[in-house]
Amino acid sequence: MEKIETLAWIDGEIVPVQEIRVSPLAHSLHYGTGAFEGIRCYAQEGGGGGVFRLREHVRRLRSSTAILGYEVPWSEDELVDAVLATLRANDMDSAYIRPLVWLGEGGMGVAGGDNPVRTMVAVWHWGAYLGEDGMRNGIRVQITSYERATGNALAQRAKISGQYITSFMAKHQVKRLGLDEGLLLDRDGYLAEATGENLFIAKDGVLLTAPDESPILHGITRDSILTLARDMGLDVEFGRFARTDLYDADEAFLTGTAAEVTPIREVDGRTLRESPGPMTRALQETYLALVRGRGERAKEWVTRV
Ligand SMILES: Cc1ncc(COP(=O)(O)O)c(C=O)c1O
Repeated sequence: MEKIETLAWIDGEIVPVQEIRVSPLAHSLHYGTGAFEGIRCYAQEGGGGGVFRLREHVRRLRSSTAILGYEVPWSEDELVDAVLATLRANDMDSAYIRPLVWLGEGGMGVAGGDNPVRTMVAVWHWGAYLGEDGMRNGIRVQITSYERATGNALAQRAKISGQYITSFMAKHQVKRLGLDEGLLLDRDGYLAEATGENLFIAKDGVLLTAPDESPILHGITRDSILTLARDMGLDVEFGRFARTDLYDADEAFLTGTAAEVTPIREVDGRTLRESPGPMTRALQETYLALVRGRGERAKEWVTRV
């Protein structure tokens, strides 16, 4: 990836990202106590930029730190403004947006102490997360040997930095094999999600994804796809499913802000029956048009820059 040399918003100011100084003694560097978001801004059909589901992302960021037990020192509206100000400062109509909140230098114990809460928003150009070819023809995935932590082991609903060690290790496991993405099972052996995406399968005309109670991140793209699927009159079900259901699916795809809607072509060396299949194609097309301002839902889901 190219070096990122954009302007970033940090604690209320806009500065070149490379000028931001972070202490090596920052609490979150040691203990993973930061929280972050991944948001996308798209060039809109009629011109200008639009951020997809900005308010939902900002709310999840504030929930993530609330789950950790500290407050972001900026309100929801202030964070929305911070994201828009960063995009305007960089004159960007399309961008990947990365807000990050972390505990700075202060108490060095696990509990911290007087550590300041720091907040930053960075932006950069980021194309298809799992590749253009993957978007068109589908990706190759494997069920990794890592488990998505369940119950009290970690806070699955939150996007907390430290939780990404599982994703990091699972992603490296599949990269070593030359594959595109790794899936994680839950403790009971059902499919949970991928390292940075939610998972859907389609069988006999029914779209299926893990239920809200599963140890998954409640993806904002997952929610958007569920809504679009219902709008399109597709049959949607929530249910736990095993690896054999995935092997035997007609279609499968991943959803995420970065990965958008990425079809799965192959799982554990088995080629799926249809890839990308008709449901995946229809949802991908509708989603990619919606984020660019086309369709009824765009009015409620796209914030103009
Ligand atoms: C572990 C995990 N699951 C799912 C997702 C998809 O979430 P969203 O659609 O809100 O980007 C992400 C990305 O944020 C993620 O990191």
